[in-house]
Amino acid sequence: MSRPQHFGWFLARGFGPQGWGYPSLDWDYDWTRPEIYQEAARTLEQAGFDLVIIEDAPSLGSADTIDLRVRHAFGGPKHDPLLLAPYLFQATRHLGVVPTVNPAAYLPYTAARQFSTLQHLSAHRLGLNVVTDTGSARHFSAADQLGHDAAYDRAEEWLDGIRSLWRSWDQGALVQDRETGVFADGSKLHAARHRGEHFAFDGPLNAVPFTDGEPAIVSPGGSGRGLGFAGANSDVQLALAPLDEASVRAYRAKIHEAAIAAGRSPADITILFAIQPVITSSPEEADRLVAASAHPDDAALMQIARKQSSDLETDLTALDLDRPLDLSIFGEHVSQGSIRRLIGDRGDDAPLRAHLTALARTGRIADRSGFVGTAEEFADLIEELGDWGNDGVLLWGDFHPVSLHRTLDELVPVLRRRGILRREYVDGGLQANLRAF
Ligand SMILES: Cc1cc2nc3c(=O)[nH]c(=O)nc-3n(C[C@H](O)[C@H](O)[C@H](O)COP(=O)(O)O)c2cc1C
Repeated sequence: MSRPQHFGWFLARGFGPQGWGYPSLDWDYDWTRPEIYQEAARTLEQAGFDLVIIEDAPSLGSADTIDLRVRHAFGGPKHDPLLLAPYLFQATRHLGVVPTVNPAAYLPYTAARQFSTLQHLSAHRLGLNVVTDTGSARHFSAADQLGHDAAYDRAEEWLDGIRSLWRSWDQGALVQDRETGVFADGSKLHAARHRGEHFAFDGPLNAVPFTDGEPAIVSPGGSGRGLGFAGANSDVQLALAPLDEASVRAYRAKIHEAAIAAGRSPADITILFAIQPVITSSPEEADRLVAASAHPDDAALMQIARKQSSDLETDLTALDLDRPLDLSIFGEHVSQGSIRRLIGDRGDDAPLRAHLTALARTGRIADRSGFVGTAEEFADLIEELGDWGNDGVLLWGDFHPVSLHRTLDELVPVLRRRGILRREYVDGGLQANLRAF
């Protein structure tokens, strides 16, 4: 039997048009209504997952690329995941629900109060995926857009402020003694006065303290500053890294060092590696899919071009596939890292078709060249990650029942048989389940 690991699902398209652009997912669900997400959340809970993380971007992007984002629903529209969370809590009993939040969008007092309310409503199952996207700043105030590291500094001040408000009721402040009729002892509430660089507020918070811990803080940043933020603040870190032993161990060591530097224990942080597997019913089917991916047709390339256009805020869909990609079309606002990921090592003279074809290409799990394979092959990979000390994985895709079943139907029994996936939850909510093993 292997060591159990933690499992999360990343709802990669956010609270948006799940399945749009994929005719095979056209089941007539209405993505603006809760049912599709509730159905999927119940499936994840039955599978024994710890949590679902709901991606978000509050902005439709810069004025000249809005059409790119919405035309094929890559990147927008997105409704507010914080407000979806209660519907998912209501449909489940144990699953952690983790909406993405941006510190630019909420004042600390409002955030502390809303998150506290949800933590109580959900019996301590709330998590918060804290992201520091700065491009959406103009929607929230006229203040200057912060730089990369400064946005992390603000996030840290925001979270410190929220935590000081959550802790503004001392132990014993909540009395609830029916005999004396005393509900709470006001002398045990303190002001949590904060005057910082970005925020100024006074407490105490008008919400009762937690009985089973604070909402879990999740962070996805991979930069030096991002890892520092995780070390100091996070209960869960989302990792995007190659899945060979050296890379996995090195990534984990960096997070652990950051935790120790912040006076915490490595055991305080659950690291989940993000993976999007394609599970097939046989090795032969996997071979066929991988072979076909080397020769994508123009329709498949166009689908990739649309997603890249949204991510890069630059329209690639109108360009000639067989001419070199002129890099001057990318404005200064476009992330250099994203451009490098598109170009790879193919050089500036390569036609757009070559770049998109490279993105289309998949590989087999069995030889570690990609993520297409059978449930047994994928379970081998997860088991190997566990042997290297890994805490768990974050699978991702649309939050459509069909996507979930395609990925999980054969995988869950295999993982259960091997002892990698939990069969039972413990009481106490998300934090308790993250610490249960
Ligand atoms: C698994 C994963 C999930 C992410 N989810 C979001 C998200 O929902 N919203 C967002 O704005 N950024 C998201 N990001 C991007 C991160 O917030 C961050 O911008 C990116 O990792 C770069 O951070 P860094 O500059 O510290 O490396 C995600 C990243 C990863 C790896």
